[in-house]
Amino acid sequence: MVLNRHCQIQTLSLHSEEIMESGAILTRVHPNLLNLSRTSLNFKFVSPIQLQKQSHFGCISNYSNGNNNNVNSLRLRVASPTSNLALEVADIDWDNLGFGFMPTDYMYITKCSHGDNFSEGELQRFGNIELSPSAGILNYGQGLFEGLKAYRTDDGNILLFRPEENALRLRVGAERMCMPSPTVEQFMEAVKATVLANERWIPPPGKGSLYIRPLLMGSGAVLGLAPAPEYTFLIYVSPVGNYFKEGLAPINLIVETEMHRATPGGTGGVKTIGNYAAVLKAQGAAKAKGFSDVLYLDSVHKRYLEEVSSCNVFVVKGNVISTPAIKGTILPGITRKSILDVALNQGFKVEERLVTIDELLDADEVFCTGTAVVVSPVGSITYLNKRVTYGSDGVGRVSEQLYSALTSLQMGLAEDKMGWTVELK
Ligand SMILES: Cc1ncc(COP(=O)(O)O)c(C=O)c1O
Repeated sequence: MVLNRHCQIQTLSLHSEEIMESGAILTRVHPNLLNLSRTSLNFKFVSPIQLQKQSHFGCISNYSNGNNNNVNSLRLRVASPTSNLALEVADIDWDNLGFGFMPTDYMYITKCSHGDNFSEGELQRFGNIELSPSAGILNYGQGLFEGLKAYRTDDGNILLFRPEENALRLRVGAERMCMPSPTVEQFMEAVKATVLANERWIPPPGKGSLYIRPLLMGSGAVLGLAPAPEYTFLIYVSPVGNYFKEGLAPINLIVETEMHRATPGGTGGVKTIGNYAAVLKAQGAAKAKGFSDVLYLDSVHKRYLEEVSSCNVFVVKGNVISTPAIKGTILPGITRKSILDVALNQGFKVEERLVTIDELLDADEVFCTGTAVVVSPVGSITYLNKRVTYGSDGVGRVSEQLYSALTSLQMGLAEDKMGWTVELK
């Protein structure tokens, strides 16, 4: 049976298969478990049904589980993108989306051996994955992730924002973590295919976006410390709204002076999974005291700003916008890079350099940037029990101006003179 994007609703018979693995005890791990804080392993097995895609990605033209023995049939209804809107979009409360995980329809997956290159992958029904308990990612943290978003535009298009930058960053990270990585082209194709297969989960214009989470992991079994013998590149998606519960209201940060996110020569500059588990303790303590998140200082001098747990930081003084320079301990954010260009185009002077804690406390405005947070104004900073506030409760002028310029581009509301957006239709 064929799934075609240009018809209303199609019914597809898929097959689930009991897979018996001999000689190995396999653990089924939900992809989300590797990044989010689920603690219990609920491994109801979902068979990896292979779905091959056509060259125009949204049409899944062919499916096969590769084996017709011992097959149970199940039926899947898929809403097609050109059906009327009521049928197209998922039935969820689009007005109250937060930044929580929501399972969608399909995930992309491909594997390769150590020393090989990834070949073309496939779309599978979203579900748990299986890993050996001895997998490199579970034992030694050999893993990276990425994060980007797809927006639905008013004219029915779907836009990605600078996806090739995520592909390039993944390649840099993979080199640091001794992993093979997909080419930029493979990454782009995989992202497009995954988004189009999950099109009904992209929020209506202005209601949020589809967060795209590529994962690269050492999935092969190792016991002694070494690179894993096999790697998996996987992409799943989830519709999201605002990252911080404050929404676009200013967030309150506390400066952490004891725990550090990264050290010189370490892995702070790449998006490896261990960087995130390492900040949970400080973040949890901050949230318990009512702060939105933690701002980290450099681990050597404890004097220069680094970044927040999952976003970059900027300080504004007069017409000058400054942000810590990239020197290995800070993630080179794609939003950070874009905001520097947008600000420059708007006539601000931009500086990438060492920024001291004193400058932060003396700034006119402070804001954070990231794919998840977009541009998030900072309302207060607490450092060694001293609280400094910015503006008068409202969103700062510069943050608002830059937020508006960036989101207009991302949502297709402004002309994309930089060629940053990629249209999917
Ligand atoms: C530690 C950290 N810093 C900064 C960022 C912002 O990067 P980007 O703008 O590419 O999302 C992120 C988010 O990915 C992050 O995890």
